Amino acid sequence: MKVTVGVSGGIAAYKAAELVRALQKQALDVQVVMTEAAQRFVQPLTFAALTGHQVITSLWDSPDTAEHEASSIEHMDAAQTTDALVVAPATANVLAKFAHGIADDFLTTLYLATTAPVIVAPAMNVNMWQHPATQANLETLAARNVRIVAPDSGYLACGMIGAGRLAEIDAIAEAVLGVLHHRNDLAGETVMVTAGGTREALDPVRFLGNRSSGKMGYAMAEAAQRRGARVILVTAPTALRVPAGCEAVTVITTEEMRQAVLDRLDQATIVIKAAAVADYRPRVQAGQKLRRSGPLTLELEPTQDILAEVVERRRPDMLVIGFAAETEDVLAHGRDKLLRKGADAIVLNDVSREGVGFDSERNAVTFLTRERAIELPEMTKRELADHILDEILALRRPSHVLAESDTTGD
Ligand code: CTP
Repeated sequence: MKVTVGVSGGIAAYKAAELVRALQKQALDVQVVMTEAAQRFVQPLTFAALTGHQVITSLWDSPDTAEHEASSIEHMDAAQTTDALVVAPATANVLAKFAHGIADDFLTTLYLATTAPVIVAPAMNVNMWQHPATQANLETLAARNVRIVAPDSGYLACGMIGAGRLAEIDAIAEAVLGVLHHRNDLAGETVMVTAGGTREALDPVRFLGNRSSGKMGYAMAEAAQRRGARVILVTAPTALRVPAGCEAVTVITTEEMRQAVLDRLDQATIVIKAAAVADYRPRVQAGQKLRRSGPLTLELEPTQDILAEVVERRRPDMLVIGFAAETEDVLAHGRDKLLRKGADAIVLNDVSREGVGFDSERNAVTFLTRERAIELPEMTKRELADHILDEILALRRPSHVLAESDTTGD
């Protein structure tokens, strides 16, 4: 898919380079358009080098282009094939022109010409942001379905403190992905996702934990939310931001996660257990910090298997998906777990592979059902999350149900 990034003239123009990178990481083809003022802050060459495409800077033939031949019509054609237009930073001037239909350069002309969704991320001085003229323009744009990624508050380049600082790049990229992947095929579903690694305390300052970063679970939650589901994210501690629109329930131990999941089970239509759950906890928890004094033996007791309990209590129409991180005999362990736990599918992760799995942005998995083992090759966790959701939804299709009844001989 192709995204056009419009850059207008503000101090934050340099941050558009990070946005371009963030969108490229999502396998999007990015075309940059710059206003004249933006070129005073950043050289078009920066964006050309990042994107591999000539930056569009003018409505007319650009003397900068190698071929000297790109016409405004060609430019416009190319830009009109875009799947989204995102303007970051969007200055007060650009917002005003968009709101009033003034088309005096390429970016403002493109805004009028495109039928693709438009996202603006304003950045400006706090007084300009608060000015009734700017606010009225934003209202006009919002009424026309332009997505506005509101600026953050903080120290501004002008030395003032207040709203006007360009929103976090991740938030802008998320808004772009939101409009691109608005599939809505999970509308009506309530997806409960567990994520992160549970912790079992040894004493008030130490715990037994695991290396799960929560990234895969959070990516699943974000993808499901974006596809129209109500999402309940039951999360053990992570360093991640809860994806916008998800209802988060934070827990620490396996028992807390179990309670949180079981308490909400009747609301869920799909349960995705991506959390890395502690299988054991210390039999006794020291009330005070343990002191060093020779060898120490910990006595551990097993925790409850939440997934098995969910399967036991499931309604017939509920889908239950487990995750398994394995280091050897991956497929054999996966099959065993699938049958033992009674889940509809297990997302199987070979964590011994380099560059994927724990704490990585990328992953490669096998989606294992009783009938099939579907290889999902290495990609970003966010992309993978959509593929996994596609496979989960496929479990609901009649062809699958038929295949299942065939195997049971019914
Ligand atoms: N799981 C769970 N409750 C537990 C342990 C695991 O719900 N107490 C879930 C995990 O969230 C995951 C799936 O079970 O979806 C598989 O987790 P894993 O730790 O791989 O399975 P175990 O049953 O612990 O098997 P083993 O330790 O033998 O690998």
